[in-house]
Amino acid sequence: MSEYRVAIVGATGLVGQEFINVLEQRDFPMLSVKLLASDRSAGRKLFVRHQEIEVEETVPESFEGIDIALFSAGGDTSRHFAPIAAKAGAVVIDNSSAWRMEKAVPLVVPEINPEDCKWHKGIIANPNCSTIQMVVALYPLHKVNPIKRIIVDTYQSVSGVGGAAALEELTTQARQVLGGEPTVPHVFPHQIAFNVLPEIDVFLDNDYTKEEWKMLEETRKIMHADTIAVSATCVRVPVFIGHSEAVHVEFSHPMTPDEARQILARAPGVKVLDDNSVSLYPTAWQSARTDDVFVGRIRQDASHANGLAMWVVADNLRKGAALNAVQIAEEVIKQGCLSSGG
Ligand SMILES: NC(=O)c1ccc[n+]([C@@H]2O[C@H](COP(=O)([O-])OP(=O)(O)OC[C@H]3O[C@@H](n4cnc5c(N)ncnc54)[C@H](OP(=O)(O)O)[C@@H]3O)[C@@H](O)[C@H]2O)c1
Repeated sequence: MSEYRVAIVGATGLVGQEFINVLEQRDFPMLSVKLLASDRSAGRKLFVRHQEIEVEETVPESFEGIDIALFSAGGDTSRHFAPIAAKAGAVVIDNSSAWRMEKAVPLVVPEINPEDCKWHKGIIANPNCSTIQMVVALYPLHKVNPIKRIIVDTYQSVSGVGGAAALEELTTQARQVLGGEPTVPHVFPHQIAFNVLPEIDVFLDNDYTKEEWKMLEETRKIMHADTIAVSATCVRVPVFIGHSEAVHVEFSHPMTPDEARQILARAPGVKVLDDNSVSLYPTAWQSARTDDVFVGRIRQDASHANGLAMWVVADNLRKGAALNAVQIAEEVIKQGCLSSGG
C-alpha cells in the first residue's frame, strides 16, 4: 500500500491534536508527518506515533513535497496558505469556513457525498461541526422520505471555538462563581459558566448568526438539496466537549419513529441510543472522544403530521472536525484523486 506525506497546519490546537490522535488510531498510511503552526509554537515538540516531532512555522515553502495538508488554523491562515499548498501539489482538507461555500470547492461528509471529492481542484472543505452531525443523522432518512424543513436548536460545547483558552475560561469561571468571585469574559461575549449564550459567530443583517446560517447553506450543499428549509438557533452551553442538537424534521410523507430507528440503525457513522424506559439517550459527556453520531429521543413531532423530533449528539472535535477531515483524506486516496492539478 502507498504511504503519503501529510502536513497538519494548526497542529498545536485542539483540532490539530485530534488530527494526530485520529491519524494514529486509524493507522493512516503516513510516510511522514509535518507539524505546522504559527511562529509562536515553532520549536515545540509533539509526539506522533511515539516519535517526537518539532513544530515548524507555516511558510509558503512548508508544502513542498506534501501529498495531503490538513488545515485547522482559522480562516485567515486557510485563505492565505491553502491555495499555496494546493499549487505545490497537495490536496488541502480545510476545517475553517473560508472555502466551504465556494462553488469550485467540494464540501464533503464521507457518509453522504463522497463522490464530490472527485471534482476537487486542490481544496476540499470540511463542514461546520454542527452541520456535520445533523446531516449524518438526517441524510439516511432523507433518502427514503425527502425532507422539506428542519428546525434545529443546538447546545454547543466551548471547545467549538477558541481552543484551549475556551476550556480554560469555563474552568476558571466555574471556580470563580462557586467561590463567590466576579467573572470576566474573554473568549465568550458573556459569562459561560452556569449560563447559556444564544450567540455563536457574528450576527448577520437578517438577525441570524453566521453559525446558524452555515447550518442552512452547508446542509443544502452537502445533501444536494437546494430547497430544504432550515432554521437554526445555535447556543453555547457550559460543556467542554460534545455538541447536542434538538432537531425537528418535516418529511414529504409521514414516517414513524420505529421506521426512523430502523433506518438509522443501519446508517453509516450513526448509533441509535433510544430507550426511554431506562433513560437511554445520548449525552455530550458520553460522546466525548468517540467517533459516532448518536441519535435518541426519536418521537413523532406533535406539531406536524409528517414530522419527527430527535436528539443528536457528537464529539465536535472528532466527527465535527478531525475525524471527518481524515475520512475525506481516506476517500481521496480510495478514489485515486490525490493529484489536484495545482
Ligand atoms: N473546535 C471545533 O470544534 C472545530 C470544529 C470545526 C472546525 N474548527 C476549526 O478549526 C480551526 C482550529 O480550531 P481549534 O479549536 O483547534 O483552535 P486552537 O486550539 O485555537 O488552535 C489554533 C491553531 O491554529 C494555529 N495558528 C493560528 N494562527 C496561525 C497562523 N497564522 N499560521 C499558522 N498556524 C496558526 C495555532 O498555532 P499556535 O500554537 O502557533 O498559536 C494552533 O495550532 C478553526 O478554524 C476552527 O473554526 C474547529
